[in-house]
Amino acid sequence: MAIFGPRANLFMNAALLGGAGVLILLLGLIWVVPVMGYNTHVGYTPPQPVPFSHKHHVSGLGLDCRYCHTTVEISENAGMPSTHTCMTCHSQIWTNAEMLAPVRQSLAADQPLRWSRVYTLPDYVYFDHSIHIAKGVGCTECHGPIGDMPLTRKASTLHMSWCLSCHRDPAPHLRPLDQVFNPQWRRTSKTPSGEQLMTAYHIHPETLSDCGVCHR
Ligand code: HEC
Ligand code: HEC
Ligand code: HEC
Ligand code: HEC
Ligand code: HEC
Repeated sequence: MAIFGPRANLFMNAALLGGAGVLILLLGLIWVVPVMGYNTHVGYTPPQPVPFSHKHHVSGLGLDCRYCHTTVEISENAGMPSTHTCMTCHSQIWTNAEMLAPVRQSLAADQPLRWSRVYTLPDYVYFDHSIHIAKGVGCTECHGPIGDMPLTRKASTLHMSWCLSCHRDPAPHLRPLDQVFNPQWRRTSKTPSGEQLMTAYHIHPETLSDCGVCHR
């Protein structure tokens, strides 16, 4: 007499198949979740107190990044514009616009506008804008085509692998220093090669991936 009936095989097969299915699903999720951006948040557009448009102010009016992000060349932080910076123009134009009411309130109450951050790194990572600017890394390399954005959206993951992919091979990401702030810049046949720029800027990628560069 058989210990296992004829249907036992069927049960065993079903159980094995089910187990394998769950395993494949789990592996699939591990692979697909980061790619789908649930934890990278590329494309993330936080709600803002005022629907400020870089497209309008940068590409439309031709304002330079440094007009509002005044410390980007000299400091770790780019800096955010004060209400007075907005009011240089908006005390003259669109003075009654509903959209700009929070700006006027901010001035009247002497309270800065609270912009939601689009890009943030954990505290244990050291980052510095000024060095990147000084070595010919354009704003759009990291922040995407910001001059075309009606609302600012996150354009890069800021994951360690993202930083490292450029630190290991910076040449293709470099541009002439006078083009760093130009969001429309494109490489042309007249642009010096990445390798030429590496030499001119004295960039040495051999040590740029050392842990101590970003974790101090
Ligand atoms: C007229 C002022 C003004 C100018 C000019 C300007 N910005 Fe901004 N920028 C802002 C304001 C206001 C915010 C906050 C609202 C938002 O995120 O859109 C901001 C936000 C940003 C952010 C997101 C910051 C964060 O992490 O929250 C980036 C990146 C940025 N600007 C890059 C640039 C670049 C690059 C240029 C030049 C090509 C530029 N900006 C020109 C006013 C300006
Ligand atoms: C150099 C002048 C200038 C500065 C500085 C400036 N703006 Fe503007 N802004 C304009 C002009 C011009 C318009 C477009 C008005 C029109 O449509 O004719 C505008 C339009 C706007 C609008 C309407 C929506 C849109 O983009 O069309 C908002 C909101 C706005 N600005 C917010 C801000 C904020 C917030 C700041 C400060 C961070 C700021 N602006 C700084 C000139 C300026
Ligand atoms: C090498 C990549 C890189 C380049 C190039 C770069 N940024 Fe950033 N930016 C970042 C990172 C990373 C953060 C988040 C920093 C943090 O959380 O400490 C950031 C944050 C910001 C912020 C938010 C405020 C702040 O200072 O943290 C603004 C505004 C900004 N960048 C503007 C600019 C402008 C304007 C340029 C060009 C002149 C520029 N960035 C070039 C990577 C870059
Ligand atoms: C698109 C290219 C690019 C990206 C992306 C990038 N970097 Fe850099 N980074 C550079 C270059 C080029 C230098 C200058 C190297 C030199 O001076 O030799 C630099 C220098 C630095 C330095 C200063 C190194 C020193 O020796 O003082 C720090 C810190 C740094 N990067 C941190 C970061 C972090 C953190 C990120 C990611 C959030 C990042 N970088 C993303 C290109 C990049
Ligand atoms: C060019 C900058 C850079 C360098 C060089 C770098 N890191 Fe990181 N590291 C980062 C950033 C940015 C994060 C944050 C990642 C995030 O938020 O997803 C990070 C996160 C981490 C974390 C947290 C876990 C994780 O992966 O999110 C560990 C651990 C770490 N780094 C270890 C190292 C070690 C070890 C080295 C040297 C082999 C190193 N890092 C070199 C930028 C760097």
